[in-house]
Amino acid sequence: MLTFYRSLTHPKQLTVYCLLLTACYLPLAAFCQEVKESKGVYQFLTEDPTQKPFFSDRQGVVGKNGMVASAHPEASRVGVEILQKGGNATDAAVAVQFALAVVHPSAGNIGGGGFLVYRTKKGKNYTLDFREKAPLQGHKDMYLDADGNVIQGLSMTGHLASGVPGSVDGMVKIHQKFCKLPWTELLQPAIDLAEKGVVLTAREAAGLNRIKNDLKKLNPNTTYFLRQDGRDWHLGDTLIQADLGKTLRRIQAQGRAGFYEGETATLLVKEMQRGKGIISAQDLQQYQSAWRKAIVGQYKGYKLITMPPVSSGGVALMQLMKLVEPYPLKRWGWHADSTLQVMIEAERRVYADRAKFLGDPDFVKVPIKQLTSTDYLRQRWQDFSFDKATDSKAVKGGDIAGYESTETTHFSIVDKDGNAVAITTTLNGGYGSRIVVEGAGFFMNNEMDDFSIKPGVPNMFGLIGNKANAIAPSKRMLSSMTPTIIEKDKKLYMVVGTPGGSTIITSVFQTILNVLEHGMTMQQSVNALKFHHQWLPDKTLFENGAFTENTIKRLQARGYILEMQRNTIGRMDCILVRPDGSLEGGSDPRGDDTSVGY
Ligand code: DON
Repeated sequence: MLTFYRSLTHPKQLTVYCLLLTACYLPLAAFCQEVKESKGVYQFLTEDPTQKPFFSDRQGVVGKNGMVASAHPEASRVGVEILQKGGNATDAAVAVQFALAVVHPSAGNIGGGGFLVYRTKKGKNYTLDFREKAPLQGHKDMYLDADGNVIQGLSMTGHLASGVPGSVDGMVKIHQKFCKLPWTELLQPAIDLAEKGVVLTAREAAGLNRIKNDLKKLNPNTTYFLRQDGRDWHLGDTLIQADLGKTLRRIQAQGRAGFYEGETATLLVKEMQRGKGIISAQDLQQYQSAWRKAIVGQYKGYKLITMPPVSSGGVALMQLMKLVEPYPLKRWGWHADSTLQVMIEAERRVYADRAKFLGDPDFVKVPIKQLTSTDYLRQRWQDFSFDKATDSKAVKGGDIAGYESTETTHFSIVDKDGNAVAITTTLNGGYGSRIVVEGAGFFMNNEMDDFSIKPGVPNMFGLIGNKANAIAPSKRMLSSMTPTIIEKDKKLYMVVGTPGGSTIITSVFQTILNVLEHGMTMQQSVNALKFHHQWLPDKTLFENGAFTENTIKRLQARGYILEMQRNTIGRMDCILVRPDGSLEGGSDPRGDDTSVGY
């Protein structure tokens, strides 16, 4: 019997069964229905019963009234305190965004941007795009030399790497539309953390030590983020950020004008001029975040609400879900060969589409409907065979270098009434451009690298792009951030998201499937080991232990290039509504991430 179960995950035998059963061509969905159900197949079916699919055994946090899952325990605490004071999920979100800018400076920010997906307790949905924009003086060749070659590093480090920040405008817009508590109250916890100091975790201390040289090189004479005695930071040290506190007080007192005008704006523009940056006072005055229509789609009985362009995340996630929907992933089991093949091949095709079609909808037409339509996605499977990996070059051309993992941050919040917030926000790389605005104490983003700085040339995540994502004045750069909310039976079911650059989309995809198909709890799904394929480079990265030795051998025999990832994949912060209505926070043990509920 066991052999029979195994054979269900073995492509050749599977094909034989199907041929016997059908004896003629059947459409894809029917093909999948013909796979025999086996009694006793368990959730995480793998050949090796000792294999643990989890990065850690961390347990989820359960709360009855509200939950905040974020990258830092202090930020989650701030969020829950706001909920307990009578704030709703958006009140808590604004407070958490500002708190993260203080306690998690590698990714939390006021000098960056992000996306909100919001579902009200009544089921209405909203998305806000507070992504950075290219400065007015930006142009498509701004990172190329006279011969048209990319000037290495210019879009990643230093003053020219920054887009016009959107986070403060985003928070102001969220506050105007949805919040209950006064703006001043939502800023106060972040101000307290900046002025009184935050106790560093080991991870935060190590992050600051890692960028010490860059900080000194790029910000001569700076004292920001450096210990007074010049030594390295340690776990338990207190980081005080007095100038950031003053900047936050200006934002607290003046709202939008406290950042985009007056002293903060003057300091920011002066900082730009010091390093030949091009963000001007006009850029800051003109910046506006934008309400957008969510991408909404069905996966089996579930409704997904996710971020539209200029994030590629929502379109890509919908494509991935729809591509795998006809296949019996649950029956095949978690990380069984066939499950992996189908997911990897879906990822390959979706990232090829991303490179070709996705860009700022204010500048280019993105064919969202077509890309997510059943007909189109069915066509995308035409060249797929279980016998052999598809060659990425046959999907689309190109050959590129590897990529590194850096930081962004995601948080999920649900309040006592069931309003739900998913926000992913970023400076792009860890600590962004590594430029700190002198006098204002915050890091600027290096989001310009998310543009396609030259067609076909990979960005820091190895992602390539084309004209749709070329730089133009005031245009937004393409993103992979995928804040997502899921409904089941018209009720709130799950809130998900993560950092991870190009791996964001695939991590969100897997985290959702782990719950919907493989019966994991929220925390198990976050703990579960992840993998990633992005079309180019043509290889599948996986976390140590994610695939069994036998699976690796068999996939390799079918032409898959597999590479164990030295770093971890994803830092998910998610919430699941349990059958009894209580909330399970799942926060990633790969980071300092913490869920706090009440
Ligand atoms: O918007 C994007 O897709 C990237 N700027 C996100 C960067 C990121 O997630 C880095 N983190 N790990």
